[in-house]
Amino acid sequence: MTSDSAMRGRTAIVTGASSGIGQAIALRLGAAGAAVHLVGRTAPPMAATVTRIAAAGGSATANVLDLRDHDALAALIDRVADESGRLDVMVNNAGIASNRAILAEEVDAAREMFDVNVLALLVGCRAAVGAMRRTGSGGHLVNISSTAARQPDSGVYGATKAAVGYLSEGLRRELEDDDIRVTSLLPGVVATNVVRNFTPESVAGIGALVGVPLETAPGERLPEKVLEAAQNALGTHIARPEDIADAVYYVVGLPLRLNIPEIVVRPARTMRI
Ligand SMILES: NC(=O)c1ccc[n+]([C@@H]2O[C@H](COP(=O)([O-])OP(=O)(O)OC[C@H]3O[C@@H](n4cnc5c(N)ncnc54)[C@H](OP(=O)(O)O)[C@@H]3O)[C@@H](O)[C@H]2O)c1
Repeated sequence: MTSDSAMRGRTAIVTGASSGIGQAIALRLGAAGAAVHLVGRTAPPMAATVTRIAAAGGSATANVLDLRDHDALAALIDRVADESGRLDVMVNNAGIASNRAILAEEVDAAREMFDVNVLALLVGCRAAVGAMRRTGSGGHLVNISSTAARQPDSGVYGATKAAVGYLSEGLRRELEDDDIRVTSLLPGVVATNVVRNFTPESVAGIGALVGVPLETAPGERLPEKVLEAAQNALGTHIARPEDIADAVYYVVGLPLRLNIPEIVVRPARTMRI
């Protein structure tokens, strides 16, 4: 964990912090001295991240929450801001992905993607804006989109990420007169559990690609050794969660007189999964 104190005294909330990119963002902000509030559904990995941040001298809390409960999310953001007296950074990172074609997508799966990727993000932005205005802290909203937003063959998932870009740009303009900046961050391919809801054939294909047989149930996390093997096997075709966390850290370290509307972080070489 790279340590510095650039964010000491600042408060951050990171959704989807129980895995992958969100976990790396929480660790990066915590290592820089921010008080980090992790949000996700799975308690053990968040507890482990809280322990790592505390061991490095930082402060963090784990908050188990299903983001489809929008009232609970808004209440958590209000509580964190009231207790801290400020909210500096809101990272709306949680997301669900699918690689099915639009015509093949189940309506329930599409609803879940819109609910988590778009509506929870919208609620997170609105509640964070309310908290930043109320406490007078000002701050940054960072919304995790995807390069899938630019690929029309990315199914319903791509449509949700295009919506993230649209909402972020609209909010950026609506908030120009506030001390609140808005960034949409588009990662390329990163080795995480994001593939857990891909078709069983695709998940098995990932196992074959990295030489580890895989028989996970839909929605089940991939074994850590598979993610590590993917990282090693795919080299510069795949980015690391820490690379995305570094980009978030850069954005939230900028003065509020600037706004970075969008950042695309791709691995050096292109791969479609
Ligand atoms: N990995 C990539 O290649 C890639 C590329 C571009 C964009 N992205 C985006 O990056 C973001 C992070 O994904 P990741 O790659 O880190 O995948 P990941 O490892 O699967 O992490 C997704 C996170 O979202 C959380 N989440 C999902 N549904 C939730 C719900 N209903 N309530 C609360 N938390 C929920 C998960 O929590 P639980 O596991 O605890 O449920 C998990 O912490 C997503 O928005 C994704 O679309 C990823």
